[in-house]
Amino acid sequence: MRIGVLTGGGDCPGLNAVIRAVVRKGVASYGHEFVGFRDGWKGPLEGLSRPLGIAEVRGILPRGGTILGSSRTNPFKIENGVERIKDNLAEQGVDALIAIGGEDTLGVATKLHELDVKVIGVPKTIDNDLGATDYTFGFDTAVNIAMEAIDRLHTTAESHHRTLVVEVMGRHAGWIALHAGLAGGANVILLPERQFDVEQVAGYVEKRFQHQYAPIVVVAEGAQPLDGQMVLHNQELDAFGHVRLGGIGQWLAEQLEAKTGKEARTVVLGHIQRGGTPTAFDRVLATRLGLQAIDAAHEGDWGKMVAMQSTDIVRVPLAEATRELKTVPLERYEEAEVFFGS
Ligand code: F6P
Repeated sequence: MRIGVLTGGGDCPGLNAVIRAVVRKGVASYGHEFVGFRDGWKGPLEGLSRPLGIAEVRGILPRGGTILGSSRTNPFKIENGVERIKDNLAEQGVDALIAIGGEDTLGVATKLHELDVKVIGVPKTIDNDLGATDYTFGFDTAVNIAMEAIDRLHTTAESHHRTLVVEVMGRHAGWIALHAGLAGGANVILLPERQFDVEQVAGYVEKRFQHQYAPIVVVAEGAQPLDGQMVLHNQELDAFGHVRLGGIGQWLAEQLEAKTGKEARTVVLGHIQRGGTPTAFDRVLATRLGLQAIDAAHEGDWGKMVAMQSTDIVRVPLAEATRELKTVPLERYEEAEVFFGS
C-alpha cells in the first residue's frame, strides 16, 4: 500500500516519534510506501506532500514539533473540501491515511471514514482530553515543563514575598494544571471544569502568607471565575470555532493583589509547554501508538483510533474516541483541594 501520513492541530512533543514508528515498521515489516502530507488537512486538500521513507525519519525520535508541519485547516469548512482530498489521494496514488491529531483532526478523520476514505487515527494533544485513551503523548512532557517552571517560581516567590500566578494551557480540560500543580506543590489549582470564587482563592493566598510561604497559583487558560465572563485575548475563532484564550492569569493576579495587598505577578507558560524534546514516557507511548497504527492499516482495520488503555495499546472506533472530551472528574479535583491554602 501507499499510505499518507499527516499531523494536524496544535503540535506536541512525540509527533515525530509516531511518524518514525509508522514508517519504520511499515517499510521493514510490511513493505508499504509512505507519503508525508504537509500541514495537517491542508496537505491532502491542496496536494502538498513530501517523500517519507526510512531516510527521512532517521534521527527524529527526540525532536519536538513535527517534520510534516501542522495547521488547523478544516476541509469541511472549505468548498468541495472532501472531493478535493479524494482527488488528490487518487492523483498521488495514496490508498489510505494515518492522521495524527486531537479532537478536531480526528473529528475530520471520523467524517472522512464515513465518506469511504480509508483512515486510521492516532491521538495527540498536550491537553490529555481525548476520550477512549487513558493518556495522550505530549501531556507528560507538558506537565514536566510546567512542573519545572513551578519549582523555579517557588524560590523566587519566597524571596520576594509575592504571589505568583502560573497560567498553563488547557482550554476545556484542566489536566495539565491539575498534574503540574500537584507535582509542583501549588497552593491553589484552578481548572476550566469548575468555576472559582476569587474571594476564596484570595483567602487561600492569605493563609499561605500567614505560614510565611509565598503562594503559587496554577490556573488553566480556560478557567473562569464565578458569574464571570471568560477572559478572552481576542474574539478571533479558528477553523474549528475555538476562541484564542489567554489572559485569565493576568486578571487573577490583579484581583489577588487588590484583595490581599501583597504583590502578585503572572507567568504565562504558553507554547513553551508544547516545544522541545519529548520525555521518555511520551517517546515510548508515541512509538507504541505508531506501531499499532501501522498494524491496523496493514490489516485494513479502517475507521479506528489507536489508544492507550491501562498499559495496553488497543483500537477503538474513531467515532467513539471523538464523541466527548475527557475532562477532569470532580473527585480528582477534590483530591488536590486538600493542599489548597495550607
Ligand atoms: O490543544 C492544544 C493546545 O495547546 C491548547 O492547550 C491550547 O488552548 C491551544 O492548543 C493553543 O493553540 P494555538 O497553537 O493555536 O495557539
